[in-house]
Amino acid sequence: MFPDLLRDDIFRLETRRLWLRWPRAADAPAIAALAGERDVAEMTAHIPHPYPPGAAEAWVLKSRAGNLGGRALTLVLTPKARPDEAIGAIGLWQVATGKAELGYWLGRPFWGRGLMSEAAGSAIAMARCVSTIETFHASARPDNPASRRVLEKCGFTRSGEALAPAPARGGALLVTIYEATRRDAEAASALKKCA
Ligand SMILES: CC(C)(COP(=O)(O)OP(=O)(O)OC[C@H]1O[C@@H](n2cnc3c(N)ncnc32)[C@H](O)[C@@H]1OP(=O)(O)O)[C@@H](O)C(=O)NCCC(=O)NCCS
Repeated sequence: MFPDLLRDDIFRLETRRLWLRWPRAADAPAIAALAGERDVAEMTAHIPHPYPPGAAEAWVLKSRAGNLGGRALTLVLTPKARPDEAIGAIGLWQVATGKAELGYWLGRPFWGRGLMSEAAGSAIAMARCVSTIETFHASARPDNPASRRVLEKCGFTRSGEALAPAPARGGALLVTIYEATRRDAEAASALKKCA
């Protein structure tokens, strides 16, 4: 799904304020502290709370193996001025041919500055250019307006509601489902050019 360029840990994506780069072992303590916060974990399907010892190290290894295989791309967000400081993460993973799921979280101290919109917008734009993904899927809890807004700002549209597996929450969660297709993006860009 992703080309060789992304399947190497020298790959980095630059946005206005951030680097998006492969996770490293040294990121584990920051990831455990930030992802393990209740307000972050409880909005996700896969982040446990309390966050168990060793889980961040395992996540780094799994993410790197996924990136190497080319069927997923998981990157940590770092401020541009402090590229060693992981403050969040974003991932795209293949769910079917031409289809990928988007997921993300940001450490609580960094919320409300437009950082995830910047990271997600850039990751989706990059994936549209270099990958074979035709449709992006994402979901958010109905009581997670910040995440729903991030998706809308990145061009996702709501396609329904469903019960989705959420192993870290102990069962299924009701979520709002979102979708963004390559064709929608091309149509939006053509409209912008006409305006
Ligand atoms: C969701 C999350 C990544 C957002 O990160 P962020 O960098 O703060 O998001 P941004 O600042 O880019 O955008 C948030 C948008 O939501 C809006 N928003 C935030 N709280 C809101 C609320 N309670 N009601 C309505 N809108 C809200 C903001 O105003 C902003 O929109 P705007 O730019 O139009 O003003 C972050 O809150 C997080 O990690 N939450 C916990 C984990 C999570 O929810 N992960 C996603 C699972 S689906």
